[in-house]
Amino acid sequence: MKKTPKNYWKLGREELNTQQFSVSKSGHLLVNEGHYQYDLHELARKYGSPLEVVFPPIIESRVRDLIELMNAFIKFHDYRGKFFYHYPMKVNQNREFVMACVSEGAHLETSSANELFLVRRLWEQGKVGPKLRVLCNGPKTEKYLSLIDDLKKKGLGVVPLIEDFDELEQLKRYRGEVGIRVDMSVKVKSRWDKKYNRFGIQEEELLKLPKIKNLGILSYHISSQIESISGLTAPIERAVSIYAKLREKNPQLDTINIGGGGAVPYEKNRPLYTGRQAVNAVVKAFKKACEKYQVKEPNIICEWGRYAVAPAQVTIFRVLNDKTVKNRLEKRWYTIDGSFINDLSDTWAIHQKWEIVPANGIGDRRLQEVWLAGSSCDSDDKYTEGGDGVYLPKLEEGDPLYLVFMDTGAYQDSLASHHCLLSSPVKIIAQNGEIKIARKRETPEEIGKIFGW
Ligand SMILES: Cc1ncc(COP(=O)(O)O)c(C=O)c1O
Repeated sequence: MKKTPKNYWKLGREELNTQQFSVSKSGHLLVNEGHYQYDLHELARKYGSPLEVVFPPIIESRVRDLIELMNAFIKFHDYRGKFFYHYPMKVNQNREFVMACVSEGAHLETSSANELFLVRRLWEQGKVGPKLRVLCNGPKTEKYLSLIDDLKKKGLGVVPLIEDFDELEQLKRYRGEVGIRVDMSVKVKSRWDKKYNRFGIQEEELLKLPKIKNLGILSYHISSQIESISGLTAPIERAVSIYAKLREKNPQLDTINIGGGGAVPYEKNRPLYTGRQAVNAVVKAFKKACEKYQVKEPNIICEWGRYAVAPAQVTIFRVLNDKTVKNRLEKRWYTIDGSFINDLSDTWAIHQKWEIVPANGIGDRRLQEVWLAGSSCDSDDKYTEGGDGVYLPKLEEGDPLYLVFMDTGAYQDSLASHHCLLSSPVKIIAQNGEIKIARKRETPEEIGKIFGW
């Protein structure tokens, strides 16, 4: 491969979700949307940093592609069930994320009463029609159950997913379709593979239950960011075996929900399956398992949220200084004008890795290995790429360096916090060649107010 800045920074590569990125003649990072072009350095200078830039067209095309791929492989494998995509709102509840998904035919999944409250708003505003189906995961508090009832009466397809025996009891009188979440004994390799899962009803207990009124969906969620195809397919074979047994008492059961798990190539130098490979494997696994257990091919639901939305947002920070600390490790630090703990919390919580590309100075500045420090007072507020450091351009007087963190659209916003009372990033939406401000920079007064001042 030719040694160009575009190749070095792994831009313009579909399998890495960087196909819309390129580099300008002046060494700035660009994002292309059809014939529109956004210069990330210019945006950061204009709107200030830290800055989040959201690209709804990326969400739209990822949701559209996922649905089209599933339908294509269903046809290819002569599979009899249908496919439904449900966007899990917990991944990013910002309105522009949810609307981008819904506009491409996504249904929704909620995990709390407050998320369902937002769905009710969309319904009341006429933004979603009666064809939308909402799966309700998460503990069913009184408030949640009353919203479920309310929306069902209003005509929306709301399907509560029963997660334990209390909920089974509470939902006995529910008039509509229900689903049930199984805690399967399959373990898959991923960062979130917890030894002791606490969600759902265990397989043996589930199979002992009498007939469940209106049971339509068998649901599971094994993990997030499942990095191997076998991690996606092994649970399918298990779920189909349970589905086959459950259908003996519940013949109306016709759907399996495989939950989340589709992975994102956060680390651009580690091999990962493509969406096409994953979808092909999923449909094939369903086909094979149904043949094995001699059972009617179920409809398939998937709730891959991270897969759909992470690549649709970047977070940009300015480098404030370059400091060499001469202690045992003698490392070079760049301090950024935001915080990993606050603005990219998974860096701190689960040692999430990110691809970092400069917004300016690409190609013409020498690179050096650095560790990155956040602007809070916390010694854990750092990014060291697992200890190896990141290669980034040297700083130049009069032309501050801006850093673009890729694929930040999943989970980071709702986890964000205000350690040291730093302001959250400004959030802008880039679509159709135009910029809209979704969240202004918080003033000291506004932040003080959150803390009772
Ligand atoms: C029930 C359920 N569905 C879907 C998801 C989304 O998973 P992912 O991160 O793979 O998008 C989650 C994430 O925790 C979940 O708990």
